[in-house]
Amino acid sequence: MSVTTTVPGVAVTGTAAELAERLDAERRSGRVVGVVLTMGALHDGHASLIARAAAECDVVAVSVFVNPTQFAQAGDLANYPRTLAADLELAARSGADLVFAPSVTEMYPDWPTPGATTVTVSSLGDRWEGHSRPGHFDGVATVVTKLLTMTGPCRTYFGEKDFQQLAIVRRVVRDLSLPVEVVGCPTVREADGLAMSSRNVRLAADERAAAVCLHRALTVGADTFGSGADAGTVETAMAEVVESEPSVTLDYAVLVDAADLEPVTAVPGADDRPLRLLIAAQVGPVRLIDNLDPRDPQAARTTR
Ligand code: PAJ
Repeated sequence: MSVTTTVPGVAVTGTAAELAERLDAERRSGRVVGVVLTMGALHDGHASLIARAAAECDVVAVSVFVNPTQFAQAGDLANYPRTLAADLELAARSGADLVFAPSVTEMYPDWPTPGATTVTVSSLGDRWEGHSRPGHFDGVATVVTKLLTMTGPCRTYFGEKDFQQLAIVRRVVRDLSLPVEVVGCPTVREADGLAMSSRNVRLAADERAAAVCLHRALTVGADTFGSGADAGTVETAMAEVVESEPSVTLDYAVLVDAADLEPVTAVPGADDRPLRLLIAAQVGPVRLIDNLDPRDPQAARTTR
């Protein structure tokens, strides 16, 4: 696919060669390139990243690629929503200049065999989501490395919604010396507090209503933390909120160090390093994750 304008205000390409050509030209003219990587089914959370990139950079490229190597379950991949026409409109409206929408073989020429090289982030990639979704972060770290290599030097915007992913991307960029600056952006929420996610559309009405318990658990966790409780008490308080919702199955609700995501064991008030509450649960067919800075419970009240 060549660079063709299919929606007013945004160019679309399916090839890495054209993406690089276009962004290299921008950089040669002294412009700062902003990049937002997505799997499409774009919502206001993605829009906030694109708008921030547009405000802080001269030109913004958005990738839309449902990466097969980061899905542990074939059903989740098959059911992942694909809405490219609407995505192009949202990207254009939010300030994107270029959308990169490659085919699977553009990204993995030997598909269905992925490349022989995998980017693995040890320890940080093994816990929490990595533990419950084996291989997931290898897929994420590898495709992010490939996409950021294709875009070249840039500022790239990632959501705190996927807090562990953001930590992993920061680590990859540092360890592999990628010429990229990573910017973390706050989670955008629905009016009732549920974190926006492309998977939310797969929730039935009763599941959607129950799903808000993740957000409630995080605010209860932050309040409990604020009262000076220890990590175990904070985690129990969060778990109780989720366990009172019969249709929701808790995976983990934990207080961790925000940098390495190691569990906090000491009394949290005893030091002032950044911490994070992480939560994951299964709601009907969908796995949901969310997180919160326990010292900034107001962040959980930010809605679109
Ligand atoms: P995807 O789930 O489409 O998310 C793309 C980006 O949007 C990620 O940085 C994610 O954290 C951010 N995002 C999603 N929901 C958000 C919300 N409610 N508020 C703020 N930001 C939000 O994450 C991926 O795709 C993929 O793993 C990817 C990095 C593209 C690699 O395939």
